[in-house]
Amino acid sequence: MKISEEIKALNLPDTLTFADGRPVTAENWEKRRREIIRIFEDNEYGHSPKGPFTVSGKVVSDRDNDYANKVLTEHCLVTSHDETEGVDFSWPVVLHTPKKALADGKCPLIVFINFRDQTPDSYMPVEEITDSGVAVAMIYYNDISKDEHDNWSTGVAALYDRAKYDWSKIGMWAWSMQRTLDYCMSLGRYDESRIGSLGHSRLGKTSLWNGANDTRFKYVFVNDSGCSGDAVTRHKTGETVEIISRVFPHWFNGVYRSYSDREDEMPFDQHMLVAAVAPRYVYGGTAVEDTWADPYSQYMSYYLANSVYAMLGMKTAEFPDRRPEINEVFAGPSCGYHMRAGAHFLSRYDWQRYIAVLTR
Ligand code: GCU
Repeated sequence: MKISEEIKALNLPDTLTFADGRPVTAENWEKRRREIIRIFEDNEYGHSPKGPFTVSGKVVSDRDNDYANKVLTEHCLVTSHDETEGVDFSWPVVLHTPKKALADGKCPLIVFINFRDQTPDSYMPVEEITDSGVAVAMIYYNDISKDEHDNWSTGVAALYDRAKYDWSKIGMWAWSMQRTLDYCMSLGRYDESRIGSLGHSRLGKTSLWNGANDTRFKYVFVNDSGCSGDAVTRHKTGETVEIISRVFPHWFNGVYRSYSDREDEMPFDQHMLVAAVAPRYVYGGTAVEDTWADPYSQYMSYYLANSVYAMLGMKTAEFPDRRPEINEVFAGPSCGYHMRAGAHFLSRYDWQRYIAVLTR
């Protein structure tokens, strides 16, 4: 069956039609993009504080001869001051910057949100990343607010009034990627045209929400994010809205749960969030054995995002009108997708594909 026919049968809300029925054009796309973000704020991830923020940082310890004298490693403590609410919050960031790239001029940077605070890490092959001329800024997500249904009592969650900000943990983690970028850009070393966002799984959902919101992220890499990330939710295999919002209620706002077993009635689906990154680059990494996430429903989102890039007059990716196969990589000029062999993981293979796009 053609993927376009599978998609048609789902009767998805149209990214290229405003909520009031007006058609979307290249001229009003930015307006539609904002409308899409609002829909996801209201229905899924909640409303995050909008600042303005003043962000500063200090280097707690550093080594300028890391990885055979090729890498500058800095362990930093970054602080965000919210000027509207008068709230201060600090968290650690580890920065690895290739010294050669620094000497040659500004280098690309990936802001990476991780499951662990160690470096290197099985999800972050530092030497390989920096050897490719890319810097990486790592945040440990539990430093921002614990991945627990803790009644919003830990980390940054405890500092903001819930009546005003119904933000979810995914919203908080995404917010920390943005504030980390504030700090990194203040250093004057990173190339603003090649800033990436990356996370895996629940943090892939976070990377997508982050990248859709903050247009400074020119490359949004979304690894194995699945349900409530980059997979079309309607009729996907594996995880559903009912399961995810029951098991992980803290990842979302209070409204999302009401769509349990009512996916067909949602005025949105995740393909719209993937498309909301356009005109910037969005890339989904998936794995064939990751049926919980559902690589085919993930593919649909990228396949559909192509119509937005086309409408904007941009070059599109060559996504075939069928399900993807193992090890197929479609790294198009404006959007990308791959389906790797194996299971749920953030592998070297995934990093290599993202880096190839960021540095080409
Ligand atoms: C669970 C959850 C997924 C999530 C994953 C992860 O499997 O159901 O939605 O992506 O955890 O973050 O590892």
